[in-house]
Amino acid sequence: MSSIQSPLQISLSQSGNIRRRWFNPESQRKVIKINGVKRTTTVVACVNLETKNAAPDNVVIGEKSKEVMEAEKRVLVGTYARTPVVLASGSGCKLYDTEGKEYLDLSSGIAVNALGHGDHDWIKAVVEQANVLTHVSNAYYSIPQVELAKRLVASSFADRVFFTNSGTEANEAAIKFSRKFQRHSNPDAKEPATEFISFTNSFHGRTMGALALTSKEHYRSPFEPVMPGVTFVEYGNIEATKKLIQRGKTAAVFVEPIQGEGGIYSATKEFLQFLRIACDDAGALLVFDEVQCGLGRTGDLWAHEAFGVFPDIMTLAKPLAGGLPIGAALVTERVASAITFGDHGSTFAGSPLVCNAAIAVLDKISKPSFLASVSKKGQKFIETLKQKLGSNPHVKEIRGFGLIIGIELDVPASPLVDACRGSGLLVLTAGKGNVVRLVPPLIITEQELDQAAEILYKSLPALDSNSN
Ligand SMILES: Cc1ncc(COP(=O)(O)O)c(C=O)c1O
Repeated sequence: MSSIQSPLQISLSQSGNIRRRWFNPESQRKVIKINGVKRTTTVVACVNLETKNAAPDNVVIGEKSKEVMEAEKRVLVGTYARTPVVLASGSGCKLYDTEGKEYLDLSSGIAVNALGHGDHDWIKAVVEQANVLTHVSNAYYSIPQVELAKRLVASSFADRVFFTNSGTEANEAAIKFSRKFQRHSNPDAKEPATEFISFTNSFHGRTMGALALTSKEHYRSPFEPVMPGVTFVEYGNIEATKKLIQRGKTAAVFVEPIQGEGGIYSATKEFLQFLRIACDDAGALLVFDEVQCGLGRTGDLWAHEAFGVFPDIMTLAKPLAGGLPIGAALVTERVASAITFGDHGSTFAGSPLVCNAAIAVLDKISKPSFLASVSKKGQKFIETLKQKLGSNPHVKEIRGFGLIIGIELDVPASPLVDACRGSGLLVLTAGKGNVVRLVPPLIITEQELDQAAEILYKSLPALDSNSN
């Protein structure tokens, strides 16, 4: 049976390498019949564009996994360059693929599974709530939503909470709240401030507003025009930010206290203190995006606590409901007072099920002893990594706070990530693909972190064999 070739074809080789082939539309044309109708289609000269996320040479992909991967590429929109692993179950910090191979998980579903996989209290919270009430919409009150908001308010600078379903939505809410705040606080202004400042290496999400705040051009340019009025300034550059904010057009400044996707870069205390004062002077809001670095990951409940600087709005998401979709914009009363009925909303956000799960997560993570253990484990892990990996010529820097850690290389990190996976360790990349990102479940043990450091160390030769 003939089929029309799509210009981009993705296939899986015997060893599990993902191949992307781009078919040249100018190449040979051919007439074929589809449902009895003649169509002209192109057949194909193909060029192999990339073989990213390859399976390491010593790994053979099992039949069941292959089947899933083949089906995925037929029925899902090809937005993800997935790692060639089909994960089937998890327990604690371990994941298992369909063939039963065990992996130590230092990726946590991209900094989400803070309590690991299958935490008993989390399961209890989900099952009990699912048995009672899962969803009611925001047309009605529900107890878990109010209880979770009370806890978030009690444990942060914020006075009120708006729930969303993801990080990007939390940032969309922050964008809308910032603009509404400017209109509300300057009712007579001819042109209330509507612009935003964001920073190099930032990542704030994929929807049109959050995308506009995301620095990587590659993410934005295919979808332009995105939300107008965003200016990017070098992360940490006080003088450039000062010049811009003094123009008085800035509704809000969005900043990650520690950049995750951008490569695990931390702001300095001086920079965040400057932003606080500059925003106050200019009447702009300061928004901290703690979607990745917040909620215990740095060893403080909120990453900004270490800097002693507090925002007007903080956005959260990833770990908050332990793997169920959630986001939140936490705001001061001053911001909340600008928002009225109908200004924003969501059908799903803040559902009883998700909020009950989040209560279980927040109750565990916010315990001082839990947070202290994150700091202690993180410090020891960074020291071990420095000892074991620091002298490798490809390792430029090992940095991080608590359990958000980056290993910056002078070469692409993917050969190392692939080799680690071959040896049963899941880690992520960040930055320009040259940073290994380690964001394990916060419950990980010191022994598991030692095991991870050993696998990373033993996998380092992959950097040399691939740079030849
Ligand atoms: C700092 C930051 N903000 C926002 C987002 C977007 O979150 P989501 O993927 O849940 O929309 C991410 C996701 O990686 C993030 O790291």
